[in-house]
Amino acid sequence: MEDPKHHVVKPYLVTRSLQPENQETPIQFMESDSIPKHLFYRRNHFSYPKLAYSNYFLPINGLVTNPILVSLQTILQLPSRTVEIVLECSGNKRSLFEPKVFGEQWKKGAISLGVWKGVPLRSLLEVTGLKKGAKEVVVEGYDFGERSDLDKVFSYARSLPLEKALHPDTIIAYEYNNQPISFKHGHPLRLIVPQWYGMASVKWIKQISVIASDFNGPFQSIDYQYYPNQDNDNGAYPVTTIHVNSTIQKPLDMAKLNTGTHVIKGIAWTGKGKISKVEISTDHGDTWVEGKLSQYSSNYSWVSWTYDWVAAKKGMYSIMSRASDSHGRTQPMKPVWNRNGYGYNAVDRIKVKVE
Ligand code: MTE
Repeated sequence: MEDPKHHVVKPYLVTRSLQPENQETPIQFMESDSIPKHLFYRRNHFSYPKLAYSNYFLPINGLVTNPILVSLQTILQLPSRTVEIVLECSGNKRSLFEPKVFGEQWKKGAISLGVWKGVPLRSLLEVTGLKKGAKEVVVEGYDFGERSDLDKVFSYARSLPLEKALHPDTIIAYEYNNQPISFKHGHPLRLIVPQWYGMASVKWIKQISVIASDFNGPFQSIDYQYYPNQDNDNGAYPVTTIHVNSTIQKPLDMAKLNTGTHVIKGIAWTGKGKISKVEISTDHGDTWVEGKLSQYSSNYSWVSWTYDWVAAKKGMYSIMSRASDSHGRTQPMKPVWNRNGYGYNAVDRIKVKVE
């Protein structure tokens, strides 16, 4: 007898580039709300770093009263915090911008959900103390490399304003879904910043420094800025909080369906408050009906939604989903175009043919 398990077809990551590795979660095929580590999207600017874990120490220095060098063992023994968060790359859905923009052509899968455990950054900064004038906390990763626009080698580094750095849910994480964080996702320690786009959650932490001014590393002052204009940098502002958004998981775009009832299903998420409703349109946005939301599994998770659609008549249909959050934000019909293609959150749409 053949083992039926051999016939189970499993989803795989969707490759955008391999060097550095950039791969999407097969989000349309995910039934579960918690993304297993092998299907968690991967976003890297450089090759993976080489690290000597046996002797790992984390330095925290700069404008602090007691600079420290803290061992991994010590960090693992400190009181921990667990956060379940949506991690979304700000370039998620970039390929949908019109006119098109340069950069990784992410479709809809540069997003994942899961549970991270670690020590609040705040607890470590309480140990070091902050000197007067402290303004931002810079977190630097072990990975580094050249950039095509600058004549120097840079590490991947980002800062947080004090308020965000001291938020109790901003953690230095060492576990993902009850396992040590896998190497590709930042082992042994990575920053996790709930409600901000993924660029803030620095992997493979090498050093944390407190500074008195605005950090101007290139992954902050050049990249991860919204540039409203094609030809100049006027009006640029930094990418921070995740926009309200939704993705239709089922049916798939360009699917052929029979007449009858079909479950339209998807996810919705936001970086401010919670999703308050998801509306679905099956007639190009002329009329909208509310979908059914599942229970929130935690404050920063996405929410699943469904709508039972009766497709009575044959024909072509444009199906859209539009999420709103408790801060009064609603997905716009058109995205806010920007030169680097960040923060795409126009209503999600697919086409299907009923025959
Ligand atoms: N941290 C380091 N050290 N290097 C990186 O290239 N990429 C950032 C962030 N942290 C990055 C990093 C970006 S843009 C995103 S979206 C997330 O990590 C992706 O995390 P993941 O690869 O675990 O999904």
